[in-house]
Amino acid sequence: MGIDIDSEGAYSPSRRPAMIRRERRDTKRRMVVLSLLTCFAFLTMVAFRRPNSLMSEYTHQLANSTASAPSRIDAHAKSWLKGRPKSMGPILSNSGRHLSDRSLADLKNTSLGFEKVFVLNMPSRTDKLDAMILAASVTGFEFDVLVGVQGESVSKKALSGIWEDRPGIDGVVGCWRGHMDFAKEIISRRLSSAIIIEDDADWDLNLRSMMEYIALGSQTLLDTPQDQPPHSPYGDGWDLMWLGHCASSTIKGDDRRFIMRNDPSVPPWQHRANYGDIPDMSPYDNTTRILFFTAGNTCTYSYALSYRGAAKILKYLSMDVFNKPIDFGLREMCEKRERGFTCISVFPQIFGEHKPAGAKERDSDIDQQNRSSVRAKGYSHNIVHSTRLNVEHLIDGRLDLVENQYGEDPHLEGPILTEYRTGREEQIRSG
Ligand SMILES: *[C@@H]1O[C@H](CO)[C@@H](O)[C@H](O)[C@H]1NC(C)=O
Ligand SMILES: *[C@@H]1O[C@H](CO)[C@@H](O)[C@H](O)[C@H]1NC(C)=O
Ligand SMILES: *[C@@H]1O[C@H](CO)[C@@H](O)[C@H](O)[C@H]1NC(C)=O
Ligand SMILES: *[C@@H]1O[C@H](CO)[C@@H](O)[C@H](O)[C@H]1NC(C)=O
Repeated sequence: MGIDIDSEGAYSPSRRPAMIRRERRDTKRRMVVLSLLTCFAFLTMVAFRRPNSLMSEYTHQLANSTASAPSRIDAHAKSWLKGRPKSMGPILSNSGRHLSDRSLADLKNTSLGFEKVFVLNMPSRTDKLDAMILAASVTGFEFDVLVGVQGESVSKKALSGIWEDRPGIDGVVGCWRGHMDFAKEIISRRLSSAIIIEDDADWDLNLRSMMEYIALGSQTLLDTPQDQPPHSPYGDGWDLMWLGHCASSTIKGDDRRFIMRNDPSVPPWQHRANYGDIPDMSPYDNTTRILFFTAGNTCTYSYALSYRGAAKILKYLSMDVFNKPIDFGLREMCEKRERGFTCISVFPQIFGEHKPAGAKERDSDIDQQNRSSVRAKGYSHNIVHSTRLNVEHLIDGRLDLVENQYGEDPHLEGPILTEYRTGREEQIRSG
């Protein structure tokens, strides 16, 4: 599910469907959702089994240093882009915790350390799939297509709740069904975990190394024993990891934070676009990312489910009475923590929404609004070194040409520093 917003951030609350307005009142959230739902969903399996030639180039071949094109990327960030020593993952500075060799190896595999990657795509949007395949390829992961569902095709009898009949409701239903199919695939194929990425999502071109920090963070939050490598590189015991969203709430009274400082891929403060609650970032400087247990997010650009998480979702959002947009359902499950439903979130987010250059009406598969205008330059929300916007440089192996869509990279000294705190003031000491 996407949110339609132009680069200037103009939106009209009146365009928001009544159902969401009511929900907002109910939950008293300051959610500012724009217009509704770009979604897709459904199911087909296309595995891309080609060896990833683009990725190996990206990883192993440095940009031609004699090339004369001007570089817009800071030297420190550039050395970070090339990666740290291969054998060593990130290390938690205040306890010495690090990723096991097995976790590290899994994180480097072609499914990002999950058992499967799915991309939700409407079959009619071959253009979005083309762009996604290229972006995944230069990042070095493979995916199966989860075929998007047209809401009209879902029988009323297949809906457990009464869905209000209003304009746009078919999109909401189709989106919900697509995400149910994601959970269903996990269960029917007995996948230990899987991540779903909507086909208009974007990510920083350092995604794979960022995921090592996410993994160290979730292992830390989940209290994974150091001497017993977990089954999932992200630790065991999580239900949902919400990595691409447009708002994220922390849990009141839970101050556990995995902190990643000095991260060149954190979007500058003034360029962060969110449409609801976000964590209090005032204790940190502006290049810090945090990982935490969440009381729920908004928007579903990307999230991962464990097998257990997928089972709970099918129970609560399909078998039980449910009639809301999918992200409301996921959020309620995170908030109520029914049956210990455990959600982890990251802020700023790792996946954002991409708006390509071209006719704006191409943005949404389901939105009925008139958007006959044309966007001259594409952009992505909350993504610094956008994979989509840099794809041609990545194909050419020209890391020296990689652009930061917000301007110059910050001048950061040294690597990303990690730290775990369980309270505002307290720092966990080693030993
Ligand atoms: C590097 O770039 C220079 C100048 O553009 C070119 O002459 C040279 O052949 C390139 N080297 C490689 C290995 O691509
Ligand atoms: C990647 O690692 C995960 C976690 O161990 C595993 O479930 C998955 O099968 C691996 N994927 C590939 C393509 O090897
Ligand atoms: C972060 O950026 C904002 C806006 O530029 C600024 O007001 C704030 O002081 C910065 N915070 C820190 C800790 O530098
Ligand atoms: C959409 O807007 C354009 C320009 O404002 C107008 O020419 C066109 O007729 C509109 N299309 C529909 C379907 O309303």
